[in-house]
Amino acid sequence: MAAATGKQKPTDRIAIIGGGNIGSAIARGLVGSGRYHPGQIIITRRQVEPLASLAAQGFQVQADNRAAIRGAAIVIIAVLPQQLVEVLHEIGPLLRPGEQVLISIVSGVKIEEIIRQIGQAVPVIRAMPNTAIELGESMTCLAHPPGAQDALAVAVALFGVAGKTLVIAEELMTAATALCACGIAFFLRAIRAASQGGIEIGFHPEQALLMAAQTARGAATLVLTTAGDHHHPEAEIDKVTSPQGATISGLNQMEHEGFSSAMIKGITTSADMVARLYAGEK
Ligand SMILES: NC(=O)c1ccc[n+]([C@@H]2O[C@H](COP(=O)([O-])OP(=O)(O)OC[C@H]3O[C@@H](n4cnc5c(N)ncnc54)[C@H](OP(=O)(O)O)[C@@H]3O)[C@@H](O)[C@H]2O)c1
Repeated sequence: MAAATGKQKPTDRIAIIGGGNIGSAIARGLVGSGRYHPGQIIITRRQVEPLASLAAQGFQVQADNRAAIRGAAIVIIAVLPQQLVEVLHEIGPLLRPGEQVLISIVSGVKIEEIIRQIGQAVPVIRAMPNTAIELGESMTCLAHPPGAQDALAVAVALFGVAGKTLVIAEELMTAATALCACGIAFFLRAIRAASQGGIEIGFHPEQALLMAAQTARGAATLVLTTAGDHHHPEAEIDKVTSPQGATISGLNQMEHEGFSSAMIKGITTSADMVARLYAGEK
């Protein structure tokens, strides 16, 4: 095992404690990247039956958390916040500082609280991926405690194979949850709305959905590939809005109806809610 040195090896074993929605998505995303094979990923949950399809694909599946972390270089905890303390008390004494990195994707639980529950100085990183990790397109935000640069490098390398990563201050993790984890739903709803508009102007539902989704992907790609040149979405919008044209008319109508305001208020409302749900985080 070489995780704590920051020199992650492709053969390192990874234990995912909590094989629910996001835990399973992480497992699939890592293997989908081609950098990991299913046999080196162990996924646990108390009722293992829902993990049968992952087991059939070669992932190691079991209910025993203690056995799962034995020999793992990276331990990812993906249980609900109310399930976390029990898990930490169970595996904490068995973790080996200097050999293992613990990554928590549990919303709203601070690193210092995790270390306190473990009772020993294991390097702990917090990560906030989203469900697009399954397809290698996550936006994963990462936070680390002071002096955990090697562990951070391990986490950046791990999540970097399945999307983009951004290291942020830990106090911004609730905001990252709203913008990126909840954000998946916001953009999906935007795609659905566009496809409904497409149906109204003449397309079959499946055509409209394809056209809306691929257009959304194109817009995101324009921003992501030009961002290095300091391009702003408005620079791309300027290219498709001619004076008195159709695009600016539609765009302005959307703004009259509160498009930008609705998105901003949705994000700030979710951020407030995340912060309230996990009191003490902010
Ligand atoms: N969903 C997202 O998009 C997303 C994104 C970023 C972060 N997160 C965070 O990730 C965490 C999990 O979210 P989720 O949506 O994946 O929830 P979920 O689907 O409910 O998954 C939680 C999993 O943990 C398992 N579990 C509970 N207690 C356990 C234990 N003692 N040992 C092993 N496994 C145990 C549960 O299975 P059993 O009941 O069978 O044990 C369940 O499969 C949450 O803290 C959430 O805030 C979620």
